[in-house]
Amino acid sequence: MDKAEKVQQLCVKRGFFWGAYEIYGGVAGFLTWGPNGVILKRRIADYWRKFFIDKHGFVEISSPDIAPYIVFEASGHVEGFKDIMVTCLKCNNKYRADTLLNEKGINVSEALGPAEMLSIIDEHKVKCPNCGGELGEPGYFITMFQTTIGPYAGSKGFLRPETAQGMFTEFKRVFEAERKKFPIGIAQVGRGYRNEISPRQGPIRLREFDMMELEMFIDPQDQRCPYFDSVKDEELNLYHRIIKEKGELEYETMSAEEAVDKKIIINEWMAYFMVMAQKFMETLGIPRNRQRFHEKLEGERAHYATQTFDQEVYLSRWGWIEVSGHAYRGDYDLLSHIKTSGRDLYVDRKLDKPKKVIQTTIIPDPKKIKDKYPRQIGRIMKFLREEDSWKEELVDKGYINITDEITLDKSFFNIKTEEKKIWVEKFIPHVVEPSFGLDRIAYTVLEYSYTEKEDRVVLSLPYIVRVFDCAVFPLVDSGEFNMIARSLYNELIDAGFRVIFEAKDSIGRRYARIDEIGVPVAFTIDGRTLEDSTVTVRDRDTWRQYRLKISDALVFLRELFRYNSFTKVVKMMKLESVD
Ligand code: GLY
Repeated sequence: MDKAEKVQQLCVKRGFFWGAYEIYGGVAGFLTWGPNGVILKRRIADYWRKFFIDKHGFVEISSPDIAPYIVFEASGHVEGFKDIMVTCLKCNNKYRADTLLNEKGINVSEALGPAEMLSIIDEHKVKCPNCGGELGEPGYFITMFQTTIGPYAGSKGFLRPETAQGMFTEFKRVFEAERKKFPIGIAQVGRGYRNEISPRQGPIRLREFDMMELEMFIDPQDQRCPYFDSVKDEELNLYHRIIKEKGELEYETMSAEEAVDKKIIINEWMAYFMVMAQKFMETLGIPRNRQRFHEKLEGERAHYATQTFDQEVYLSRWGWIEVSGHAYRGDYDLLSHIKTSGRDLYVDRKLDKPKKVIQTTIIPDPKKIKDKYPRQIGRIMKFLREEDSWKEELVDKGYINITDEITLDKSFFNIKTEEKKIWVEKFIPHVVEPSFGLDRIAYTVLEYSYTEKEDRVVLSLPYIVRVFDCAVFPLVDSGEFNMIARSLYNELIDAGFRVIFEAKDSIGRRYARIDEIGVPVAFTIDGRTLEDSTVTVRDRDTWRQYRLKISDALVFLRELFRYNSFTKVVKMMKLESVD
């Protein structure tokens, strides 16, 4: 049994996650997170919020999972969010073409088109892995889930493939609610949906998953990051475009500052978030040498990005797997939504010196318009008042069509052109996006925490994402022991800790059970408790035990999670070893 299988078995047994809809045979790409898994994900997301949002004074929103068709048409997803699919002509099984070829040991880039995929399939005589049948012609498949909003068949919508679009469509509202603070980071933790063609990597490739995304809106004329100095010397493992194009397989390690200076990373903000992402994963138990940043080349990147680095971690079965993506999205999204919605999603830039601009003022002449269109005057004036786009059209073409029958040329307007000094100009913010996959990170944390000791499993979850704070056990299931244990349990629960209480089974079995869900410590009430009001406190990772005054248990826990070190707290509190 490989490690991935052992981890997945443990996760099912201990209620972290399992394949959803098992009673109906299961559906690939859908997981149910169980009681312990939900807490693990919640802890990771809360830590992410502290690390990426609160620390910087950024803000979080929650926009709908479903969006009307126009949102994802404007964002370019309808056109660009697709994979190449091949269908077996015999058994009708469908495959993602690049995955199928890669699994056959034929390395292909996801940037290839259907015709190139077809010629590789023909060249290598690739057949259906299920039945050995001939494969048909590859074609595109849109990987967004489509739905209908309300009862109207024409009202199409999509389940969002990324939460990011919510931050773009709602940008102006958030910006104004935040009193136009700029630069501004807007984040969202929520569901994303991708209709993967044939997901076969268990918890790694899901059709419905949680994302933690941050859109950092910056001024394109000032790409410096005020936090960069604090991380500039940190080293990053970069599998960047230059070494990739040379065909090398090893990443190159360099400081964040060097990477920005050499223009390997586009700007300080990108590099800053990459360092932060590396630290984030390190705190979650993934060593730096098991992490790298893999630059995506043109064609491999999403349609909106001018630069993308995927943060990858090494997993035992699947190799390098993306856990976060760092994309420079520039003004792509806001500009697309400005063009499609006609709304003003610009930000004002105050100028140090005034700038001279030529300004054109266009004022309709109602009298002239009424003389020509006496019956339609109300409608025409309403249009001219409420719409803005006609001004540009009038200057460009010399006339505007309000309807097929109503045309107004320049003679119906007073047009004045004057030179003006302006102190403020408008610009479209550029966006740097770090985007994290919560489910993949949770799986990664579980795999890296999974250890075996003397034929038993110990889940050494980093304290910061522990699913329980401690356990309280009476050594034996009897009246007085139980009473003291219950009272300690209640005290800890009232203080806000998550505590397990169990009296059944041998103490060895109970310790083994909590080790499997990674509970950091257990307090045990034993014979000596009745004499001197002390309990044992057991360390999950070393299995060593110490004696502690029962009245100090609360302080012990607080110190443990303040310093995140069992050894340090044992020393600080001068605890007597039981061994
Ligand atoms: N927003 C990043 C992604 O969809 O991957």
